[in-house]
Amino acid sequence: MAGRQLLACALLAAAVGAAVGFQEGLRGHQIWELPSSIPAALEALLRDGLLDALDHSESHRRVHVPAEGLDTARRILGEKGVGYKVLVDDLAEHFQGERRRRREVDSREAGSCTADSCPAPLSDAYMTLQQMEFYLREINTTYAPRVSVQSIGKSVEGRDIWMVHVKSGGCAQGDTQPQVNLRHPRIAYWMMKRRAVWIEGGLHAREWISPAVALQLVATLAQQCSVTRAIDVYVVPMANPDGYLYSWASNRLWRKNRRPISGGGCDGVDLNRNWGYKFGVGASSNPCSEVYKGPATFSEPETQALRDAMTAVADGGNLELVVALHSYGQVLMYPWGWTAEEAPDTPDMRRVGEMFASAAQKRHGTVYSVVNSASGFYYASGATDDWAKGVLNTKYVYTLELRDEGAYGFYLQASQILPTAEEVWQGLRMMLLALTPEKAPAGAPQA
Ligand SMILES: *[C@@H]1O[C@H](CO)[C@@H](O)[C@H](O)[C@H]1NC(C)=O
Ligand SMILES: [Zn+2]
Repeated sequence: MAGRQLLACALLAAAVGAAVGFQEGLRGHQIWELPSSIPAALEALLRDGLLDALDHSESHRRVHVPAEGLDTARRILGEKGVGYKVLVDDLAEHFQGERRRRREVDSREAGSCTADSCPAPLSDAYMTLQQMEFYLREINTTYAPRVSVQSIGKSVEGRDIWMVHVKSGGCAQGDTQPQVNLRHPRIAYWMMKRRAVWIEGGLHAREWISPAVALQLVATLAQQCSVTRAIDVYVVPMANPDGYLYSWASNRLWRKNRRPISGGGCDGVDLNRNWGYKFGVGASSNPCSEVYKGPATFSEPETQALRDAMTAVADGGNLELVVALHSYGQVLMYPWGWTAEEAPDTPDMRRVGEMFASAAQKRHGTVYSVVNSASGFYYASGATDDWAKGVLNTKYVYTLELRDEGAYGFYLQASQILPTAEEVWQGLRMMLLALTPEKAPAGAPQA
């Protein structure tokens, strides 16, 4: 529908065109709270991703309304006599105010990053892309050779996509006197039963808690030695660097990558709708949509890089667990997303998912519900999880929607980074233990 297209194109044109002032792309944009039953005309805009659905509960749904869409949305609601609440009446103003407040905090808590080094991931502030790269460079040196960092490809705008590999074998490797004797029967057994795990963060730009948690997990994995002795862990903490940078500077609500789309004024492809498995279900072919799937499967360099690196890991043997970190909602989802039919290994995925949830809850009381993507959330295809399940045949596959349940949503306070990471680590640890072979073969001597 032309009107619909116009509406969202205008939104994104505004977001793209005005990259001058901080968050100016969101000038005049609003956040509304709508009743959960709304007119079909508005429903259609939401379904197609032209109004940006932020969350919904039994009683309400929250949407991001572009400045240019305000009149249309108001008219539709007015005609049907549906009331709504304006929660934020100018998002640019809102984020500029946030930044002023954050600056005051930042000047008191400088964090552990300096201008050109970052020995630990920040837990009291969201890290800039540059700080993330400083940190990755630093662990690559500090924990070598057990931890290594390499680029798996480049984004649309030419930025590296980094992958951290925390190697199996325990912390002894790299000592001048190696304590891991690979010919020892017990160690040989463990190494033979080695598993690989893949963790993806930052695919959606505005979900800042995702890379923040991924980096905390990297720090924890680098330091601890026993749980991952027989597990190779691969973490891509920031899968969409261009989008992340853009969400820092111009549009805090940016979700997609930064693919320029000629003609329409609407940029970006939803990287979690671009994967080549059951492409197209629950995704849009309209570039203005927040869930635009792109012109073809794997049309984007970011998804190509992730696909190739994951395939290489799987070819190396035993890729058993894939976790994609997103926000928000506190939900651990297992495939399929494209259909409500049951995916292979569903009972096991649910069992291990419940182990995650109960371990996570023990840490700070946060409740994560374990649900099937399609039936618990909404139909979507072209996401990392369905591809890992459908193409790589990975046994345990999850999309984890991190904190919170909507109170702060994408603008989760930085003070929640550490507790979120702590509870996710407890849950992930249980998952890793579920993958570890229980026992060495009978008779094998103790290492
Ligand atoms: C990590 O260290 C290795 C070995 O020193 C080096 O070749 C590589 O370029 C480093 N990677 C990064 C991202 O700095
Ligand atoms: Zn997401």
